Amino acid sequence: MTESRFQLSRGDAVEWLRTLPDESIDLVVTDPPYESLEKHRAIGTTTRLKHSKASSNDWFEIFPNTRFEELFFEIYRVLKRDTHFYLFCDAETMFDAKPKAEKMGFKFWKPLVFDKVQIGMGYHYRARYELILFFEKGKRKLNDLGIADIITHPRVRNGYPAEKPPQVSSVLIGQSTQPGELVIDPFMGSGSVGVAATSLGRNFMGNDLCREAVDITRQRLLDGGAIELNTTLRGDEHPQLGLGV
Ligand SMILES: C[S@@+](CC[C@H](N)C(=O)[O-])C[C@H]1O[C@@H](n2cnc3c(N)ncnc32)[C@H](O)[C@@H]1O
Repeated sequence: MTESRFQLSRGDAVEWLRTLPDESIDLVVTDPPYESLEKHRAIGTTTRLKHSKASSNDWFEIFPNTRFEELFFEIYRVLKRDTHFYLFCDAETMFDAKPKAEKMGFKFWKPLVFDKVQIGMGYHYRARYELILFFEKGKRKLNDLGIADIITHPRVRNGYPAEKPPQVSSVLIGQSTQPGELVIDPFMGSGSVGVAATSLGRNFMGNDLCREAVDITRQRLLDGGAIELNTTLRGDEHPQLGLGV
């Protein structure tokens, strides 16, 4: 297997996407910090997360639902024809995000369920699952038609806030890309999508607003043997780096 390459950026997700050329990306897998988190924080169910290692602030910034249209417009634009887009999502946000993504041109297939095995926060039916919205641009066949729509893996405990196990993204990347293709995550957090992508021989570009997220991701990807390309590139300087952009 050829070595995977990666490139990381720090900044706003939409601004970062705007630096990428049209139809240059093979897969987007991402997990924005939804405004629904604020509601849970307001009623106190996420107070234990306040002293995260993710930021010098108490918790990362939320990404307001009012910005979904510009986000999905950019994601649709940068994806090549015949590609997939996976959006980690909660049930409340799904109702808002789905029609906005469809308006930008995506076909919505279904929500996948990430079953975290153990229960988590909440008062009314404690949370054991998250959703992953499965969208398509054009037409692309999944690599394995025998995979179920429930992906089961224990949640990450005491990690980066809202950290996902790479094993979940591995299923999505394995289904929707070939080795050597380019996966991006505009809200990468601790880089679980990048870890999954590079360990499967895909290339990865990631971005986050938070410096610690970039540092954590870089270390994880280097530890896994991936090769880093220039991290300070801006879109207007994007040379052909062999990452497909
Ligand atoms: C839910 S976390 C991602 C967790 C990630 N999936 C993981 O496994 O670690 C969301 C991330 O979005 C980042 N973020 C918040 N607002 C952002 C923005 N406007 N642009 C880019 N990143 C942002 C936060 O710093 C946080 O790291």
